[in-house]
Amino acid sequence: MRDMKVLIVGSGGREDAIAYKVKQSRLLSKLYCIPGNGGMVEKGEIIEGKISDIPQIAKDLGIDLIIVGPEAPLVEGLANKCLEHNIPVFGPDSKGAQLEGSKVFAKNFMRKNDIPTADYYVASNYDEAVNYIEKYGLKVIKADGLAGGKGVVIPQDLESARDALHRFMVEKSLGASGERVVLEEILIGRELSCFIITDGKDYILLPSAQDYKRAYDGNKGPNTGGMGSVAPIAISPDIESKIRERIIERTLEGLGREGISYKGIIYFGLMLVNREPYVLEYNVRLGDPETQAIVPLIEDDLLELFYETAVFKLPKVNIKIKSMYSCCIVLASKGYPGSYETGKEISGLDNLSECIVFHAGTRFVDGKFYTSGGRVLNIVGIGESIKTAREKAYSCVSKVYFENMFYRRDIGEGVMNID
Ligand code: AMP
Ligand code: GLY
Repeated sequence: MRDMKVLIVGSGGREDAIAYKVKQSRLLSKLYCIPGNGGMVEKGEIIEGKISDIPQIAKDLGIDLIIVGPEAPLVEGLANKCLEHNIPVFGPDSKGAQLEGSKVFAKNFMRKNDIPTADYYVASNYDEAVNYIEKYGLKVIKADGLAGGKGVVIPQDLESARDALHRFMVEKSLGASGERVVLEEILIGRELSCFIITDGKDYILLPSAQDYKRAYDGNKGPNTGGMGSVAPIAISPDIESKIRERIIERTLEGLGREGISYKGIIYFGLMLVNREPYVLEYNVRLGDPETQAIVPLIEDDLLELFYETAVFKLPKVNIKIKSMYSCCIVLASKGYPGSYETGKEISGLDNLSECIVFHAGTRFVDGKFYTSGGRVLNIVGIGESIKTAREKAYSCVSKVYFENMFYRRDIGEGVMNID
């Protein structure tokens, strides 16, 4: 397929990174982004419209491939609707997206398919959940449905566990997403983000990445979508084969048995406990900000891979990865991950040739960039070691400014390989 018209759905740093790579493809004729962000203005044509309008918009524009960045439209069935219009979509249909859309589905799926994961219990009402933790001790509490990063609580004591359960199941702070909860054993180990591109049969393992979820240095403060990332994280062959055999391959076989034709990304949020990998969660899309670190390392044509996957013909199982490292620093608005400031003018974005800048919460108005989100910019340094990648990234960060911007100063510090 040549001269492709491509539509990217989403507005974060992840989508800007995908746009950056798709833009380099020799197969692209025109790129559209819905709703996009300030940085994507330079890469494609911004389209306005609701998620529910996308199938019709894509049809009218003659789109050859839709790439869906975030999970919510996939869980809501955007891929199903586009396929009804015969438009190839990179991203699973609503059945496949249940891997992320329902923690209960995901946990039962793992149990059924012998995929290592923490032990768990599903509770359907507040009394049942409280009784369980009173009897069996503190557990990680996970709301069943999508919760935009707010659905997982690791309680420190019984009282805060009861509070969280009350919020989810009685006050319904997350709506229907908190009606059921998974109560899960607490695992202690090292976290790792692994990603595959898959057409449901074959798969490509992308470079693994480390995400920095907490807001402040030293892994302190509230959980965020991610304040930075580094890639690749080297994994020993022994652990990689455990991940492939016990986790990735069993997941694909299980999906096949469920009759789910999966195409797109599967993101395995893993915890390594004594060199044994466990799945903490599945996501059905790329990670943000892991993508911003991974994408610049990929040499292959990502658009070609995404298109072939969307039509269930993944052409290869290995891709070329640059032997480099990358380090991504997220610049955030004051208040994030709570309610945050917006509308601040951003300066210093010219002359950052040492780094790649991916936009997230930005708007481009009359030749200037303004903040419009919690996570605003991603500054990515690439180097021959994590150390040089991180030095480049932080040197660029020091040139960028908007009022009250904050970022972590310890991204990429002390990163260890997994062996
Ligand atoms: P999840 O959305 O399931 O990945 O959970 C969000 C975060 O909570 C993860 O990235 C982990 O840091 C933490 N977490 C989730 N499940 C567990 C678990 N069973 N034990 C310890 N930490 C967990
Ligand atoms: N960085 C974590 C996520 O994308 O879910």
